Amino acid sequence: MRKPIIAGNWKMYKLLGESIETALALKSLVANTNHCEIIIAPVFTALKTVCDRLEGSNIKVAAQNCSTEQKHGAHTGEVSAEMIKDVGASHIIIGHSERRQFYGETNESVNLKTKACLLFDLTAIVCIGEMLAEREAGNAENVVKSQLIGALEGLTVTDMKRIIIAYEPVWAIGTGKTATPEQAQEMHAFIRQTLSEMNGKEVSETIRILYGGSVKPDNIESLMKQTDIDGALVGGASLEAESFSKIVNYK
Ligand code: PGA
Repeated sequence: MRKPIIAGNWKMYKLLGESIETALALKSLVANTNHCEIIIAPVFTALKTVCDRLEGSNIKVAAQNCSTEQKHGAHTGEVSAEMIKDVGASHIIIGHSERRQFYGETNESVNLKTKACLLFDLTAIVCIGEMLAEREAGNAENVVKSQLIGALEGLTVTDMKRIIIAYEPVWAIGTGKTATPEQAQEMHAFIRQTLSEMNGKEVSETIRILYGGSVKPDNIESLMKQTDIDGALVGGASLEAESFSKIVNYK
């Protein structure tokens, strides 16, 4: 059985005070939830405080990015996986489509960042997903497959068991256009099949694949009913504790 995961990506939305406020509101709203793992991803400047305030709760904390560099040194503006671990986070979102589109993230950098995560015993949430034009050209599966192969190159079977995949079709992010549960299921099954070809059936059956892209309280349930959807990575609807808690408690 794969335990579901509901993760909230706060992107660059909240100041420190707002991050604390939302985290604490969420903490009390989901205090009795244990059917799924709950993760929130604040900005770097709020990471340590939010980790401290959520210590001992059922909410884990993720960073939204990390450096490709594993060793500390002259890398102005970068934050290493070890530094993220040091302040109490347990996960890192890697290769989000906004980073791929606007900040030069490539399959190679995603691969290096994933390896940095693993080295410091953090769980990488590796994001993949096609653009609208790629889907319309019938290329969605090819794109997703090459992102998977690129991101996971060189990972062992043991490593693979310690990562999470997030499938986020770029055309569904922040647009209000969710993939239908059937469209999402179809791609999740394809991803699981590809993982099985890459690293064997056992890994592919263990690994959790989250769906992301306009997930809301009113569409989460139908998405979660799909066999290969193991959870959600939520942007907009994770910013308010109330709506995110409804997604967390989808059943
Ligand atoms: P959205 O964002 O839920 O606002 O579409 C999802 C994401 O970017 O992870």
